[in-house]
Amino acid sequence: MGLDLDYQDGQTPLDEDEKEGLIIKTISTRGELDEFEQYGVENAVMWLTKRKISSDKILTQDFVKILHKRMFGTIWKWAGEFRSSNKNIGVDKYLIPIELKNLLDDCRYWVENKTFSQDEIAVRVSHRMVLIHPFANGNGRHSRLYADTLVHNGFGQPYFSWGSRDLVKQGEARAIYLHALRCADMQEYEPLIIFARS
Ligand SMILES: Nc1ncnc2c1ncn2[C@@H]1O[C@H](COP(=O)(O)OP(=O)(O)O)[C@@H](O)[C@H]1O
Ligand SMILES: [Mg+2]
Repeated sequence: MGLDLDYQDGQTPLDEDEKEGLIIKTISTRGELDEFEQYGVENAVMWLTKRKISSDKILTQDFVKILHKRMFGTIWKWAGEFRSSNKNIGVDKYLIPIELKNLLDDCRYWVENKTFSQDEIAVRVSHRMVLIHPFANGNGRHSRLYADTLVHNGFGQPYFSWGSRDLVKQGEARAIYLHALRCADMQEYEPLIIFARS
């Protein structure tokens, strides 16, 4: 059976093994897949809204995985598991656990020492998370919802709005978002912080 996906700018392509992990076998187009994934993300958001989760809990490797599983667990068998292949972006697959540990340790330090504003801490985590690219797919959406969880459930602030547009689809908001990520690559976080609250 063929799951035929065409990839746009900045999308992580799935290899054949990963495509094999599709739980709902009737999905055959990118549009159908997008819809099911969107439904999964909405379910994860609903699960989150009812919960108080401490930032200590959020900043664990377990929670990083649990969130991805909540988002994509009905669609992909490998949801919530680190990727086992290398991608055009992201660290080498063997470095994912250590890079993630470093990130979570750094972030706990920033929270304890109030190194940055709460928004900046969440945005920095999201940016570095997507650079690590822990999962085979869904890293962009996961990294943003993870930042939302930290800022809202953890810090008690409103959720981010991330440009108030669908960032999975090609469009102006996605272009601004990717530009802001590239600024963050160069340690310039302001555009991403502003975008997250726009
Ligand atoms: N050039 C880039 N530099 C940094 N991050 C990028 C770049 N291109 C894409 N990304 C990030 O990777 C994400 C795409 O990875 P992917 O795993 O397919 O996530 P999703 O399926 O949620 O879109 C984008 O949403 C963005 O966050
Ligand atoms: Mg993708």
